[in-house]
Amino acid sequence: MSPSPTSNSTNQSWGGRFNEPTDAFVERFTASVGFDRRLALHDIQGSVAHATMLARVGVLTDAERDAIVAGLGEIRAEIEAGTFEWSVQLEDVHMNIEARLTEKIGITGKKLHTGRSRNDQVATDIRLFLRDEIDLVAAELTRLREGLITLAEREADTIMPGFTHLQTAQPVTFGHHLLAWQEMLARDHARLLDCRGRVNVLPLGAAALAGTTYPIDRHVTAELLGFERPAENSLDAVSDRDFAIEFTAFASLLLMHLSRMSEELVLWTSAQFDFIDLPDRFCTGSSIMPQKKNPDVPELVRGKTGRVYGHLMGLLTLMKSQPLAYNKDNQEDKEPLFDTLDTVKDCLKAFADMVPAIEARKASMHEAARRGFSTATDLADYLVRRGVAFRDAHEIVGQSVAYGLRQKKDLSEMSLEELQQFSDVIEADVFEVLTLEGSVAARNHIGGTAPDQVRAAASRAREALTALGGAT
Ligand code: ARG
Repeated sequence: MSPSPTSNSTNQSWGGRFNEPTDAFVERFTASVGFDRRLALHDIQGSVAHATMLARVGVLTDAERDAIVAGLGEIRAEIEAGTFEWSVQLEDVHMNIEARLTEKIGITGKKLHTGRSRNDQVATDIRLFLRDEIDLVAAELTRLREGLITLAEREADTIMPGFTHLQTAQPVTFGHHLLAWQEMLARDHARLLDCRGRVNVLPLGAAALAGTTYPIDRHVTAELLGFERPAENSLDAVSDRDFAIEFTAFASLLLMHLSRMSEELVLWTSAQFDFIDLPDRFCTGSSIMPQKKNPDVPELVRGKTGRVYGHLMGLLTLMKSQPLAYNKDNQEDKEPLFDTLDTVKDCLKAFADMVPAIEARKASMHEAARRGFSTATDLADYLVRRGVAFRDAHEIVGQSVAYGLRQKKDLSEMSLEELQQFSDVIEADVFEVLTLEGSVAARNHIGGTAPDQVRAAASRAREALTALGGAT
């Protein structure tokens, strides 16, 4: 007796070869539909393109293609309406959708998988999905960068202490500090767009691993799906997830930068610094200490950095030592990738919303810069301009600072006579360089902290960002 395709209760996609149904635990253990259903709309998009291409090359009739496309359209509507019934027995998003299609349009539904495997199908779905997500991430990154540039312009003249080793070093402008953040994000943005180019390649047509015997036209499928080109090698196309790792590496660097920004925001909102105020809507209170206003949003971004690093390590380890071509291991790529995306989008949104609302406490920043001998280097440079060798100037200023510490006086608060005890080349014009305004204005070259340079840098940054807008 020849076996009928439905002669036992094993999975309908491969029942033919099996003599007993899948163990219930194994069914649950191997199923991915619980999470990969997030790819459903992109799975349908890929299937519509595949069916269209098959009809174009004569493997499907136009009528079959129309039935498939219409059926998939109905399924899309069911998924969007939340009425689609997902089944763990059908393992993953691909087989759930295909089974529903067959239920709807009969035997033609079974022809959709011609010349295709779930291996090239899933690789295609993730790339389509990730490409769309990258565009959302890029838009949020753009919004954050715009916010930083605008705030930097507003704060181009605001003076704050610059730090090394978290000790007051030299005065800088707040605008300059904000543009440093912007530069970090500009590099992340470039990495993201670079990654997008490598995501945007079509695996479909690789089939299980070796290609297919049908006369497919992969250029047609690539064009229908907006991919740059078909993947060059079928074994590579179904197996590598380096593009997901690469996105997660981008995300790790971005979160590393956001965590640094977060750390500074947390410090600056403390009473000890008191450099900025974050509006109440970005903070929370304490259930016991009535005076508290906590910078939870930046703290949480700082904390979420850890999970993204974890996903990067997870994905790298997932891919490590995998032999060609597809292995079931790769089913484990989705949850870390999805969580990375959700985390990155939320953190960028938090920052893009928060940055324009940062309020600089200018008087407090100015006072902190004034207190910390932050113009000591300016005094040394002044002495050098009057013929003192830099090392000697360094020594002279060191003695002046030691004196100031004993007298509890900043350099700018000493009288000319007091300063002259340390060097007789010092004259009344020294006070021009000892002011914070003089100090920052003197660093007037590209990349320097002078207010005019900050304004020029902000306008270059804005131009670069606008130019990128055309790139995606
Ligand atoms: N759910 C699978 C995954 O995410 C789809 C591909 C499965 N292919 C296979 N031959 N088992 O990787």
